[in-house]
Amino acid sequence: MNNFKYFAPTHVEFGKGVEERAGALVRQFGGKKVLLHYGGGSVKRSGLLDRVIASLDAAGVPWVELGGVVPNPRISKVREGVELCRREGVDFLLAVGGGSAIDSAKAIGYGLAYDGDVWDFYARKATPTASFPVGCVLTLAATGSEMSDSSVISNEETGQKRGVNTDLCRCKFALLNPELTYTVPPYQTAAGCADIISHTMERYFAGEETVEPTDSIAEGVIRSVIEMAPRALRNPEDYEARAAIMWAGSLSHNGLTGCGHGGHGRVGDWACHQLEHELSGMFDVTHGAGLAAIWEAWSTYVMPCAPKRFARFARNVMGVAEADDEKAALAGIAAYKEFLRSIGMPTNLRELGLTLTDEQLDKLAYNCSFEGTRDIGSVRILAESDMREVYRLAR
Ligand code: NZQ
Ligand code: ZN
Repeated sequence: MNNFKYFAPTHVEFGKGVEERAGALVRQFGGKKVLLHYGGGSVKRSGLLDRVIASLDAAGVPWVELGGVVPNPRISKVREGVELCRREGVDFLLAVGGGSAIDSAKAIGYGLAYDGDVWDFYARKATPTASFPVGCVLTLAATGSEMSDSSVISNEETGQKRGVNTDLCRCKFALLNPELTYTVPPYQTAAGCADIISHTMERYFAGEETVEPTDSIAEGVIRSVIEMAPRALRNPEDYEARAAIMWAGSLSHNGLTGCGHGGHGRVGDWACHQLEHELSGMFDVTHGAGLAAIWEAWSTYVMPCAPKRFARFARNVMGVAEADDEKAALAGIAAYKEFLRSIGMPTNLRELGLTLTDEQLDKLAYNCSFEGTRDIGSVRILAESDMREVYRLAR
């Protein structure tokens, strides 16, 4: 087992009605004036925003609001948020929504504590040293942003999508009511499940060595989502299924499923995420669906470097009964692909709705390698040419 740091400071309250705790928790964490930050309107239609506002009012916390965060949230909205918060004297960001609203709130938090342009952090021109506090009421189980150290923002001018990872942006509190996810449409529900599983896989496929109990936790989390996703799709108001998926989402991306893992000095593999971020940066696809679309290509490409690991996944997660490691590994890849298909996820780029030219493959790989300056991955290190090959295999 490698040395590791596990830091999951977010105060979580889980269950029916927890959104009504928003006002009290903002006060508890020192907020004097709140920005309510949300997306395209689902939280208004559901009445959630009104309930959160009532809770802020009851706690005597003044607020201003800024909606209109889009999936793959934009830097322009972040800049608008920073300006508004400065003007209004806001000192606490409260995201009500999915990963996009939370990531945008985290970015505003960075921007408020910085004199320059907040994109500097995402462009790697500066490193954040401070942030304003963020809390969230989650409405979509997917990204794990409610407990993660990550904020991912797209720059609509450059077509770049970039993440910043620091403990500074971790939510002070996360309010998780599974009932709030009943209205999530089937495609987003399935994409969320693919994303959750991917966050655990990125840490699980990180090297050959066994790390217990981390491996067993990771396998259990993935098995839970595989079991519960079809239930949530069949009956969107299945509380136990929605609850399991929601908690799996937080556990998958708060570091728990990676403790002690890592190869080549990297905690986790993250190649699928890096490859996907270029896809959603350039083509604005749904993140979880993009991950699903490249998984088979990536896993087939890297599996020969870690057949035992993939065989373990096949046997312990996908129930493959096959003695030979390589055959088991391939059967596991096929079985997981079948699962993705069964929940309506794409399993290649065509099914994702993209027909890519050779030039577009070049551009994706060039961007993903940060213009030829980095490699990615851990199970197998991928240089720019490997990235292009994975995109080609996924085409
Ligand atoms: O905008 P509204 O109207 O709220 O609608 C949203 C949006 O259209 C809708 N939705 C959310 N909750 C709903 C609902 N519709 C009905 N009922 C509800 N309860 O769902 C759509 C997608 O929302 P979004 O927040 O974009 O989805 P998600 O949570 O999947 O977030 C995706 C973003 O997070 C990034 C992704 O790259 C992407 O930009 N990620 C963030 C991570 C992190 N911060 O740790 C890690 C991930 O790997 C990921 O990269
Ligand atoms: Zn993700």
